[in-house]
Amino acid sequence: MLNGKLQFPGDKSISHRALILATLTDGDCQIENISTGADVESTRNCLSLCGINSKKTKKIVYITGKPMRNPEINLDCGNSGTTARLLIGLLAGQKVSARFVGDVSLSQRPMQRIVDPLNKMGANIESINQRLPIILSGKILKGISYTPSVASAQVKSTILFAGLGAEGETTVTESILTRNHTELMLNELGADIRTKDNFVTVLPLQRPLNSFKMTIPGDPSTAAFFAAAAALIPNSNLILENVSANPTRTGFYTVLEQMCGNIECLSQWENNGERAGDLRIRGSQLEGISITKEDVPGIIDEIPILAVMATQAEGTTKIRGAADLRVKECDRINAICINLKRMGADITEFDDGFAITGPTPLKSAKIETFGDHRIAMAFTIAGLAANVAVKLDNPDCVNISFPEFYSSLSKVL
Ligand code: S3P
Repeated sequence: MLNGKLQFPGDKSISHRALILATLTDGDCQIENISTGADVESTRNCLSLCGINSKKTKKIVYITGKPMRNPEINLDCGNSGTTARLLIGLLAGQKVSARFVGDVSLSQRPMQRIVDPLNKMGANIESINQRLPIILSGKILKGISYTPSVASAQVKSTILFAGLGAEGETTVTESILTRNHTELMLNELGADIRTKDNFVTVLPLQRPLNSFKMTIPGDPSTAAFFAAAAALIPNSNLILENVSANPTRTGFYTVLEQMCGNIECLSQWENNGERAGDLRIRGSQLEGISITKEDVPGIIDEIPILAVMATQAEGTTKIRGAADLRVKECDRINAICINLKRMGADITEFDDGFAITGPTPLKSAKIETFGDHRIAMAFTIAGLAANVAVKLDNPDCVNISFPEFYSSLSKVL
């Protein structure tokens, strides 16, 4: 069983945005509890190649805003789609010229979703097959009104960041609401931004953003692996402290509750416009649930661990409308299906999701992570919950978002 209390490094999405928006301020910024994962380091390294140096101590990143310069070498975004997409938007708005590259996984991920709106704004982007490497040449942009074809916070944020440096206003209309950290932070830092229903409009910056000090709440997508483990293992009683409670990020916890998980909110507060709170999770018998397209953006990063939970839930769990999972760090639908089948789960694959009927005892298996941090963490929890050995082909890939994953787990076991 899992017992005790855990805290987590800062949310990955907020960490990327805090670094990015610090560059547009007029002074010294301090970011406390930044994500410790390699993805956020990719953003920090790319910014430093554009002349924005930052200093990192164990707990705090110090970063000072100023105009950026063209990097002399490639901006290597590593495995991080958020780094690539958001920085392409930011740099396009700041008229910076740069060449973006990434690792094998990132080089296969679709970039058309950001290239199309940026081209519409007048950006000059060269790429083969709309994938990395991408060459961006500094040009004056014009604001647009745009409805992304996929529900994606990365696409929305890319367009908004470009809009900060464009002429005229930029509006993004979302068919399904996605995480809103960019909007909250821009509002906090004094940008001219308006949100109403599913519209968000930014005006070009007339002056730098306010410099800031912020403490980033713990990453709810990381905490989800531990919440799932506590929910699955009888007699667990685990407290997760200072986890982001932004309503666009709590989808996993709502689903856990709907699956009859024993989850209690102990307290909540707000800091820099972002909600956070402490949660208690206890073990309980879960029940299957049906998840549709509208629910997906709110749980997009938690679907691998939800699939593991579904194998132990009574009845059938169905997830549809999640085709974008096929173009994440790996094809996550395929990775979930292959590995759960190896462990003996009852799972049927669809183009845009899967159905799992449980509960089924899971057996020991070799797990193919496809280098995907969330597949590695989800299947580590599957092995733990079933009390069987799982052998991951690449356990270190957890470093992408949460290098402390295994040590945190051993603290509460
Ligand atoms: C993110 C948005 C999501 C998520 C990713 C981080 C962000 O991607 O999967 O891990 O920080 O905006 P999409 O918006 O492309 O779904």
